[in-house]
Amino acid sequence: MSRDTVKEFEFNGRDFERVRALIYKRAGISLADSKQEMVYSRLARRLRATGIMSFAKYLDDLEAGKMPGEWESFTNALTTNLTSFFREAHHFPLLAEHAKKHRGEQLTIWCSASSTGEEPYSIAITVCEAFNTLTPPVQIIATDIDTNVLATAANGIYPIDRIEKLTADQQRRFFLRGKGDKAGMVRARPELRQLITYRPLNLLDEQWDIRGQFDVIFCRNVMIYFDKPTQRKILSRFVPLMKPDGLLFAGHSENFLYVSDALKLRGKTVYELEDKARSVQQGMQKRA
Ligand SMILES: C[S@@+](CC[C@H](N)C(=O)[O-])C[C@H]1O[C@@H](n2cnc3c(N)ncnc32)[C@H](O)[C@@H]1O
Repeated sequence: MSRDTVKEFEFNGRDFERVRALIYKRAGISLADSKQEMVYSRLARRLRATGIMSFAKYLDDLEAGKMPGEWESFTNALTTNLTSFFREAHHFPLLAEHAKKHRGEQLTIWCSASSTGEEPYSIAITVCEAFNTLTPPVQIIATDIDTNVLATAANGIYPIDRIEKLTADQQRRFFLRGKGDKAGMVRARPELRQLITYRPLNLLDEQWDIRGQFDVIFCRNVMIYFDKPTQRKILSRFVPLMKPDGLLFAGHSENFLYVSDALKLRGKTVYELEDKARSVQQGMQKRA
């Protein structure tokens, strides 16, 4: 028996091409040829949930707008949300240093692909430690296209092994341990959760529901899913949202120098504004 004949739903190359085109248009995500199996298994769940028996019919109904809310579920199913606390740990001392440099000011930080929350909580913990308080002067806006991960992030509940790399002091100071049927789970303390506001945001959208100038923008491990023109466009929209000495943190395999001439390297995968862009932003700050 061939592998295809044991599949629960028929899924052919044309279906894959359709999915690929739809998710690219909607989320900017470029799926490689090797992702066929992944697409099948993730969307097979949507077929089961909607009771549709073939990929072709599912995609027809999706495109025809016959299933309310299904675009969101389709998108949620196809995002990759891998993340962890203090991922790419070398970024956080730099964040702490930047926060301390701005002591006495209200810091604003945008975490633009926050996934299940480990990244914004790591940012919040870093700022708390920098100012030695659970109520530091910081507002963190955490956004993602995937509404499921945002709900997980806002809940702030994780299996205990997710925080095992944190120091014992960090675990105690920033998390509550579950008891009874919640044993084995931890929850970010309310003070930490209060520092972060979550909202859905598609980096591909023409309008972003985001205002102001940020001290720091985190955009890590999401640009890798986008092609160069998309990356260029997004970076050109980050620049006016940065304070003159603002920092932009990228993922380990993301090099923005080839994509934007308004940015220069400040550290390993950390960027700041180039001189010209910086003076434009200084002018904007004065006018504001
Ligand atoms: C691999 S995770 C990275 C999470 C975190 N930034 C980190 O580095 O650990 C990528 C995240 O980008 C989000 N994403 C994908 N396309 C997006 C888009 N067009 N707009 C906003 N977020 C998007 C996904 O939902 C996912 O949560």
